[in-house]
Amino acid sequence: MSMSQRLDAADALPGAAEVRARTYELLRLEPGSSVIDVGCGAGLAVSELSARGFRAVGVDVSPELVEEARRRSPEVDFLAGDACALPVDGGFAGYRADKVFHELAEPERALAEARRVLLPGGRIVLSGHDWDGLVIDSSYPALTREIVRARASEITAPRIARGFRRLLAGNGFLRGFGGRGRRVLRGRFVRSRVGGGGRSFGGDFLC
Ligand SMILES: C[S@@+](CC[C@H](N)C(=O)[O-])C[C@H]1O[C@@H](n2cnc3c(N)ncnc32)[C@H](O)[C@@H]1O
Repeated sequence: MSMSQRLDAADALPGAAEVRARTYELLRLEPGSSVIDVGCGAGLAVSELSARGFRAVGVDVSPELVEEARRRSPEVDFLAGDACALPVDGGFAGYRADKVFHELAEPERALAEARRVLLPGGRIVLSGHDWDGLVIDSSYPALTREIVRARASEITAPRIARGFRRLLAGNGFLRGFGGRGRRVLRGRFVRSRVGGGGRSFGGDFLC
């Protein structure tokens, strides 16, 4: 199975469309504003954001996925590039990275790039699984736990999603402001997959 086929399968899971929609909502983009989707894979979120009237750009380190994204959505902007050295100048109101930061050895560098490309007051939304927190119903809980642990150990940063809020707050992102001018913490943790771990959002942080 190719990477784009694996991403398609993940996108077809129950709840996946709702989770994507929630990330768009958390970006709180004004009509027509610019948004960058980092680690965009085959480009589904970028084409959905574009269809909602935003100027969306997708960036991915994999030239094959960028090519596939361009094939699927030729009218949308896709660039090959690294999250830690984004191939854009800036001017974005929103930055989104879904299921990407667990692959990064130096997330702080990616966040420095996010700050560089975001406009003042721009909003960042990180989303991803906690690979060490997967809950699977099994008749062999001890073995299942070992399998989850072994799988997590192959991932660069398996537990990063549980710390998104701390990571963002520690890298110069301010928390969002509530309706009455009160500072609030609005990160989200939702269950998105049957038999899987939760999905953690670092959304509603401003730069
Ligand atoms: C699990 S996929 C998620 C793709 C897409 N965001 C989605 O939700 O379907 C992770 C993606 O991050 C990309 N990626 C990994 N490291 C990256 C980096 N350093 N810079 C940019 N993209 C990266 C991979 O090529 C892959 O497309």
